[in-house]
Amino acid sequence: MTQVFWQELQQELKKSLTAKGHPFRYATLGTVGLDQMARLRTIVLRDVGTPPDFTFTIYTDQRSKKVTHIKENPKVSLLFYHPGKLLQLKIEGRAHLVKDEEKLNTQWQQINPNSRKDYLTSIAPGSSLQNPDQVAYLDNGHHFCMIEITPFKIEYLKLKRPHHLRVRFSKEEKDWYGEFLVP
Ligand SMILES: Cc1cc2nc3c(=O)[nH]c(=O)nc-3n(C[C@H](O)[C@H](O)[C@H](O)COP(=O)(O)O)c2cc1C
Repeated sequence: MTQVFWQELQQELKKSLTAKGHPFRYATLGTVGLDQMARLRTIVLRDVGTPPDFTFTIYTDQRSKKVTHIKENPKVSLLFYHPGKLLQLKIEGRAHLVKDEEKLNTQWQQINPNSRKDYLTSIAPGSSLQNPDQVAYLDNGHHFCMIEITPFKIEYLKLKRPHHLRVRFSKEEKDWYGEFLVP
């Protein structure tokens, strides 16, 4: 009975990769590093695989705090919200940095030159700056990096009448199991 919700969440996530303005294009990524402080930020969902792996891919600068956190503690959360459907997806998984140079290079080549600047600042993101108009960029090299998140729990919540719907999908070994929860 939970299958229909499993299909819906997959379809919406996939749709967000191509449908202009889809709210699942953006998610909130939560990490907790050694300082034990939860840190949240908006990211763009770049790719999503198919179950059982269901890998979520995001791009970032390898000097960013989220990368430090992931190295310290790979357990992360992703939060998606679709206001039109009143649908929330809470995802828990393990993150790792892509090491495959060929894969990194292929993706880097596909990023348009304007967006490449996001990974080219000569000093690290989050460093203090005297004047925001004076950011220097590298001529050589870059700090582009890809994070892949392999989920082990996905929670679907839809607010609706006569009652809300909350379903937890858990990965056990290689298979996903769904169960309804009290909303
Ligand atoms: C609409 C929007 C989309 C963003 N997308 C990304 C992204 O895909 N990757 C990324 O690293 N930061 C992205 N950011 C910036 C992050 O929210 C965050 O400020 C930055 O990555 C630094 O986070 P950190 O210091 O916690 O690592 C985005 C911000 C906004 C407002």
